[in-house]
Amino acid sequence: MTLLSVRGLSKSFRGVRALHDVSFDVADGRILGIIGPNGAGKTTLFAAVSGGVAADAGTVRFAGQDVTRWPDHRRARAGLVRTFQLMRPFGAMTVLDNVAVAAQVRASSRAAALAAPDAVLDRVGLARYRDQRSTELPAAELKRLELARALALRPRLLLLDEVLAGLVPAERGPVLDLLGTLRDEGITLVFVEHVMAAVMRLSDEVLVLDQGQVIAAGTPAEVTGDPRVVEAYLGDEAALASGDDGDDGNDGNDGNDDDADDEDPETPC
Ligand SMILES: Nc1ncnc2c1ncn2[C@@H]1O[C@H](COP(=O)(O)OP(=O)(O)OP(=O)(O)O)[C@@H](O)[C@H]1O
Ligand SMILES: [Mg+2]
Repeated sequence: MTLLSVRGLSKSFRGVRALHDVSFDVADGRILGIIGPNGAGKTTLFAAVSGGVAADAGTVRFAGQDVTRWPDHRRARAGLVRTFQLMRPFGAMTVLDNVAVAAQVRASSRAAALAAPDAVLDRVGLARYRDQRSTELPAAELKRLELARALALRPRLLLLDEVLAGLVPAERGPVLDLLGTLRDEGITLVFVEHVMAAVMRLSDEVLVLDQGQVIAAGTPAEVTGDPRVVEAYLGDEAALASGDDGDDGNDGNDGNDDDADDEDPETPC
């Protein structure tokens, strides 16, 4: 069954075409990896799909409903949840409270043990940071907190924007394992990632964006062999060919906040 269906999505920011006529489907229980050079439109795509940014054209259907005009919190309540490339925890709050706030969004629905804040912290390996302020967290743990807040919303579809960025290779394995576990639990995953090895390992299918457009789609093996993809990654082919990190130029991205100003500045859900 198709869980997410995106058709003809377009978005421009003051004349800059960030997305142009993007269409794709994600079947229930699958993992879709999205790759593309910096500025390709990946984060904008997540914002448009999750509702933080209103698309200029196109439709988003989720679980059989047209959600194109739904605000982000309504989409999140329906199970369409994203994480942010640039994390925005409520700094003054403890780690536990950050997760509890997210969990409350889903409080009206049937209580689920897996979404209880302490259970979520346990799952992402943050239990020992539970009572610390989120501002005191090291970078890798902040990433986990972002993931925890998304999980507290009990997503049916989770959009993950560079959850591995800023992590050293040794820290990536456990996060990838966790994503595999989420998939096994039935959560459908769409993830944007510059770390090619992770994309290859996790994805059932890969979508390649360049300058706001889909330039290739298929299995990981199909897209890496596609000349258009190699072309889009000129200067970065080594990363593509070796399946090694392509993220050396991208970690700085974390501080490069070009996508925050147009997104919903309130809650990350
Ligand atoms: N809020 C905004 N206001 C103006 N321009 C924006 C905004 N958000 C994105 N853009 C522009 O839209 C284009 C796509 O940006 P986007 O952040 O979606 O790319 P990306 O693929 O996520 O890049 P990266 O790999 O660096 O995260 C870029 O040219 C960017 O400068
Ligand atoms: Mg981005």
